[in-house]
Amino acid sequence: MYLTKEEERILKGEDGEGFQRAMELLVAVGDIYEAEKMIEITSAQISSVAYTNSGETGIRFLEWLVSTGAHFKVLTTLNPHSIEHDRWKEVGFPKEFSLRQIANTKAYRKLGAVGTFTCTPFQVGNIPRFGEHIAWAESSALSYANTVIGARTNRESALGALAAGLIGKSPLYGLHLNENRKGQILINVEANLREHSDYSALGWSVGEKVMSKIPVFTGIPHNVDNYELNTLCAGLAVSGAVGMSHVPGITPEAPTIDSAFGGEKPEETITIEDKELKRVYEDRSTKGVGSKVDLVLLGCPHYGYRQLKKVSELLKGKKVHKDVRLWIATSTPIASAAKRVGWLDTIENTGAEIMCSYCAPVSRAAPFGFETMATNSSKATYYGVGGMGLKDTIFGTTEECINAAIAGKWGERK
Ligand code: F3S
Repeated sequence: MYLTKEEERILKGEDGEGFQRAMELLVAVGDIYEAEKMIEITSAQISSVAYTNSGETGIRFLEWLVSTGAHFKVLTTLNPHSIEHDRWKEVGFPKEFSLRQIANTKAYRKLGAVGTFTCTPFQVGNIPRFGEHIAWAESSALSYANTVIGARTNRESALGALAAGLIGKSPLYGLHLNENRKGQILINVEANLREHSDYSALGWSVGEKVMSKIPVFTGIPHNVDNYELNTLCAGLAVSGAVGMSHVPGITPEAPTIDSAFGGEKPEETITIEDKELKRVYEDRSTKGVGSKVDLVLLGCPHYGYRQLKKVSELLKGKKVHKDVRLWIATSTPIASAAKRVGWLDTIENTGAEIMCSYCAPVSRAAPFGFETMATNSSKATYYGVGGMGLKDTIFGTTEECINAAIAGKWGERK
């Protein structure tokens, strides 16, 4: 890979060992993928910020980076982590565990990262433009950035995004290049998409079928909202390894189906009907009608304004069952604005809890003893068992999940 004089200098360690290691990682990745050169990026989004992911090794590594004088050269934002950032005591996270999570986030702060602690950085100011090169590691967010914004990022690892943020560059390969962004498989959506959980189910279904290929969707309603697209991207990225898809008319580089395929023919056409979404809801549920639930989780990916408003309307005047915790995950900036409008008070008056900066699905160490989680996110059902150590998960619509939180058990599907 061609390196500029400045890149060579960093690689030799002249700017310190932290920058040197970051450059070594980027050069190694670039060599593997036969990148011609590095390109400048405008932002990085780092995953594995959760203490449950990176542990003591992660803290030691970040503190070592700080000691070398390394710092982020471009806007670098952070994924959610293992505690409710400001109310961890009140929610019941153990002190020692919480302080180690805070030590992790302090090290990131010393490196110059912005503590957004959300998997939806585009909701809180990290908003790339069409065509910009970025290095994002959160699979749902990077897929959204490629698909909806038309920015360009590979499926970065946590360390890949961290190194790219430190150097401000990324090797030029994969989804940074026009030729690798063409659609491959046509997805003809005939299913009725009622709300964002249906998009989550659709993403799960298509991800399983296309794996790492690029799907092109037809039949998505023109008034689809950004969060529905976000949950579609999240599902695609977790059951498969999809880093980008095309929704012609929405994906900026694909105004038409033909342009999405770059003038070529689809390798295959897959039709998704209502019965396939029903199949996903059932497959992602290990329990059914009448089952007791002890956690109801909404906000994976993190909720924005529209979703908080909808939940406040669905919950108004109700009470969460005494044996259930209803957790609604979002970011601090979104929550504080939603509080001013009154939606948070309506939600919290029911006993539901707004969880800022938090990613429940990857936080196994949280000692709440949950066994069965109901959620409107296919992604959360996947991580809920492995990441949280739950016994059972139930996947349903937002309304079904809220009804379960009120009743304390799962009801009939609508
Ligand atoms: Fe976000 Fe965690 Fe879900 S990072 S997408 S809340 S698994």
